[in-house]
Amino acid sequence: MKYIPEPFRIKTVEPIKMTTPADRRKAIEEAGYNTFLLKSDDVYIDLLTDSGTSAMSDAQWAALQMGDEAYAGSKNFYDLEKTIQDIYGYKHIVPTHQGRAAEHILSQYLIKKGDHVPGNMYFTTTRLHQELAGGKFVDVIVGEAHDTTSTHPFKGNVDMAKMQRLVDEVGADKIPYVSYETCVNMAGGQPISIANIRELRKFCDKHDIKIMLDNTRTVENAYFIQTREDGYANKSIKEIVKEICSYTDGCTCSSKKDCLVNIGGFLAMNDEDFFIEAKAQVVIYEGLHTYGGMSGRDMAALAQGIRESVDDDYIKYRVEQTNYLGERLTEAGVPHVIPHGGHAIFLDAKRFLPHIDQDQFPAQVLAAEIYTETGVRAMERGNVSAGRDPETGKNRHPALELVRLTIPRRVYTQSHMDYTAEGIARLYEKRDQIKGLKFIFEPKQLRFFQARFKPLEPVAVPTS
Ligand code: F0G
Repeated sequence: MKYIPEPFRIKTVEPIKMTTPADRRKAIEEAGYNTFLLKSDDVYIDLLTDSGTSAMSDAQWAALQMGDEAYAGSKNFYDLEKTIQDIYGYKHIVPTHQGRAAEHILSQYLIKKGDHVPGNMYFTTTRLHQELAGGKFVDVIVGEAHDTTSTHPFKGNVDMAKMQRLVDEVGADKIPYVSYETCVNMAGGQPISIANIRELRKFCDKHDIKIMLDNTRTVENAYFIQTREDGYANKSIKEIVKEICSYTDGCTCSSKKDCLVNIGGFLAMNDEDFFIEAKAQVVIYEGLHTYGGMSGRDMAALAQGIRESVDDDYIKYRVEQTNYLGERLTEAGVPHVIPHGGHAIFLDAKRFLPHIDQDQFPAQVLAAEIYTETGVRAMERGNVSAGRDPETGKNRHPALELVRLTIPRRVYTQSHMDYTAEGIARLYEKRDQIKGLKFIFEPKQLRFFQARFKPLEPVAVPTS
């Protein structure tokens, strides 16, 4: 079987606009060559992100009608709390409006000025909150994660030798926790293994360091463990998700991904003192601790989404749809990160556009040209996203210069994947004509969201 057929049928459709290459060239110029600044109306297939872009089920839409909008003690909160305890196994939960709000509260509580926070690669908002709390992020992911051609099955793993080196250099008392992410987004959606998390737990117990999970894509990670790790083929996704979480002290979660909702997030922990402080903080920044920035109906849809997300047939279809797009690109010889991640296929802009210097933003221009060629919106994940080093002020020049084709959950069909792969293959044939970009506006923080660029030379890429 080349693909796993959809385990659902379509009940409501949302028309999308077909545009011409000339329309799209104009739109991308107006957007400053930044796909974040395009209007959604001008996009045919939106692969910008898998965040908040899922299609909800009929049961989730029905759950919305059951919203209890009481300011305090909504019944939807108690159902959500019970669901999170059941699926992820944490004792306490604090809802937030999305993942970064949970990161803010966690970072402020656990990090002291001068601390080091090791993690299996940075995520943009996560690292920024660590820095704002006075910490320094230290990358301890395995070396293979930085190599787009390595076939290591668990490129999200922490390198234990790097952890040991950090402890030797700065001392365990300067390391409050390990920031441990499942299906590492910036590495290409690469999973961690149970063997790695067990080893990390042992190490952290020895040094009295916590493990805080970025739980955003744990269900997708569980599918990779089920299909790749010895001893897990007969375990259910639900069992594997619970096992992953059981080795950690708590988590932040952006519910806009795995959990199949358009907005939401939460912080969870086992420690009582942390729970008390997190509740104190959430009321300052988000809302009362029984809604934390979500409405009752949002929490109802989220609880239902979490339950649906751990269905074995659903997650198999989900991850294999992503893999299908990757396989089509492999057939066309388009360079991208392997093994294929769970939520996205990441094109390797350094190999796609070897003639463009990293300071001329190859991934940024590649995302812009994919849009112009096809109407498919992708996202830069390279030098622009990595930002500048706060100490030197220089571009960080990450090893990975990628364009992310992110697949929303339950939204697009197999023919959308074929259309995308064929368009990118066409662009690959004329890659020599793509030229670099320069900044015309550069925001200080999280610059990728709002930066504007212009081509270094007049655009010469003909659209077909
Ligand atoms: N952690 C990870 C691994 C993420 O991918 C994201 C968001 C967050 C935390 C922050 O969560 O957006 O709910 O505040 N990722 C989105 C993306 C933005 O497109 O990858 P948030």
